[in-house]
Amino acid sequence: TWSAASIVEDQIARIRAQVGTGKVVCGLSGGVDSSVAALLVHRAIGEQLTCVFVDHGLMRKNEGEQVISAFRDRFQIPLVAVDAEERFLTKLKGVTEPEAKRKAIGAEFIRVFEEEAAKIGDANYLVQGTLYSDVIESGGGTGAATIKSHHNVGGLPDDLQFELVEPLRALFKDEVRAVGAELGLDERLVWRQPFPGPGLAIRIVGGEATKDRLDLLRDADYIFQDEIRKAGLYRDLWQSFCVLPDVRTVGVQGDERTYGAVVVLRAVTSDDAMTADWARLPYDLLEQIASRMINELRDVNRVVLDITSKPPGTIEWE
Ligand code: XMP
Repeated sequence: TWSAASIVEDQIARIRAQVGTGKVVCGLSGGVDSSVAALLVHRAIGEQLTCVFVDHGLMRKNEGEQVISAFRDRFQIPLVAVDAEERFLTKLKGVTEPEAKRKAIGAEFIRVFEEEAAKIGDANYLVQGTLYSDVIESGGGTGAATIKSHHNVGGLPDDLQFELVEPLRALFKDEVRAVGAELGLDERLVWRQPFPGPGLAIRIVGGEATKDRLDLLRDADYIFQDEIRKAGLYRDLWQSFCVLPDVRTVGVQGDERTYGAVVVLRAVTSDDAMTADWARLPYDLLEQIASRMINELRDVNRVVLDITSKPPGTIEWE
């Protein structure tokens, strides 16, 4: 039997044995895996660890600030936060094709991370939040077609000049959450729903991810999350988020014709993201979400619900 406390103790000993007095960097995404990995390593070797948080401007509302305050203020972990929004938006100009978008973001992410890691100087180790499930998934590859090229902090290429430190390699997601709670991680981060590395950019579909569209999507997403949390459903859902297709539709508001944006609601239940079922959200909740979006967001005049399971749909739209 395992307990979170014994995993922590065991991993601390292993991390110390691996890195000795070496310097270590860790890319933080705000997700539970990289957060717990960073906390464990910090417990083990303190200030030998520097975390790097690349804010690509594609995060949800207030998320960047939450990461910075959790790590820098609460745990006093040395943290380099890079505001790279401009750089990413520049790279995304004119890019609408899903894979091109993913690749542009992934490549820029590595560039920014490498620049920052170089500034830290003589770090030889890189923390990765690889889980047991990631180890299994990448082991059984039979050359199946790539459905989506994944980008995440855990997916930095091996040819970065680092030795990997992977304290979560033997753990399942629920164990990672328990370890996070044991280490005092904010419960908001412990229970955070998965969020894709390329962020909101892959939820702006059929068009370019511009600052204006990202801001609109962020606001819609905020309302959705807020209502889901208030309804007590946040932890029951694998993910709940909005998609903003590049489409306008005609509506009417106060005798006036409108020609506005459509927000898609996507909520799924799942155990592992390999398959997923669309969530049967209560009608009254859906009504409340739609009316808040239309009242609070000037540009939105229509809200629709995605009722596709995976397969045949994927969870994300791109
Ligand atoms: P799909 O859309 O393929 O997504 O059904 C399965 C799960 O993976 C997440 N996802 C990503 N996570 N980097 C990530 O870290 C990515 O590039 C990425 N793309 C999709 C998605 O949110 C879902 O949980």
